Amino acid sequence: MIATYQQAFLAYLEENLHKKTPRTLYDPANYILGLGGKRIRPVLALLAADAVGNEIQKALPAALAVEVFHNFSLVHDDIMDEAPLRRGKPTVHEKWNTNTGILSGDVMLVMAYECLNNYPPALFAELTQLFSKTAREVCEGQQYDMDFPTQERVSQEEYLKMIRLKTAVLLGCSLQMGAMIGGLSCSESEAFYAFGIQLGLAFQLQDDYLDAFGDSATFGKQVGGDIIENKKTLLYLLALEKGDAEQRSTLEELFTTTPEDSMEKIQKAKAIFRATGADSAIQALIETYTQNALKEVQNFRVSSEKKAVFKAFALQLMERKL
Ligand code: IPE
Ligand code: IPE
Ligand code: MG
Ligand code: MG
Ligand code: MG
Repeated sequence: MIATYQQAFLAYLEENLHKKTPRTLYDPANYILGLGGKRIRPVLALLAADAVGNEIQKALPAALAVEVFHNFSLVHDDIMDEAPLRRGKPTVHEKWNTNTGILSGDVMLVMAYECLNNYPPALFAELTQLFSKTAREVCEGQQYDMDFPTQERVSQEEYLKMIRLKTAVLLGCSLQMGAMIGGLSCSESEAFYAFGIQLGLAFQLQDDYLDAFGDSATFGKQVGGDIIENKKTLLYLLALEKGDAEQRSTLEELFTTTPEDSMEKIQKAKAIFRATGADSAIQALIETYTQNALKEVQNFRVSSEKKAVFKAFALQLMERKL
């Protein structure tokens, strides 16, 4: 079922890759978009449009818009996080250079907006309004993420707000855009957005968990990258909360350092995440947010067969290894 949506999306993506010049601008964009990835956001847009109004074809431009925007954000995120690997391959700034990553990312943001030109004026206005609000929030979330490593105290509440902004809103937006293209009004499609938020929170918590505990053979990104960058993820915050005085001070000290060889730092941090039970606490939270997402599906005005597809998708996402 999900594979059908992915295939429809990939065929449309292939048709719409830029063959323009300068190649040094467009090749990196095509490179990152062609590296694969799970295609979660476009699939959610197509799924919603199909469930609401049988409108897969009509939702393809919006699906492309959210995927191109997502890939733009990854190119810039990888520069900011100094990440060497993306989807098992060198990041754009590693393969080319930082300036290339900046400008190719910029043009991808423009391309994302251009996809929406395919819609008639009234729908276009509604879609761009939601898309722009979402894009602004992603930037806000990303800035909080960048600020946290040097911020003295970060609360769990602040962290959850940060991941809602940097990650969850784009899943919500993808779903709601799909539902609106399927024929619902902005207010009628709010349940889809709400589902995306809960799913997105679970999804980013899982991303943080895998960043520390994932298998480098399947994860596709540098394992331990968040620890290297002193990211104050919920794993870190929960370990501080649950740890004894010694564990707490070791961890706090560790997250002020940037050693040349990060192996030992990563091992120490992971040992504390485990010893304090932060790792299993995260798993429980992922489960909680996934359950919240499943509850939101009950509010969808679609058949129970269609609801089952959204639920299966959410459960499958929780089991992911990459
Ligand atoms: C990575 O997103 C960035 C996060 C919001 C965690 P994905 O995990 O969806 O990345 P791809 O597109 O599947 O590679
Ligand atoms: C998601 O955060 C960032 C964006 C919103 C672009 P991460 O920094 O955790 O994403 P990954 O782990 O690099 O994919
Ligand atoms: Mg990153
Ligand atoms: Mg980041
Ligand atoms: Mg991450």
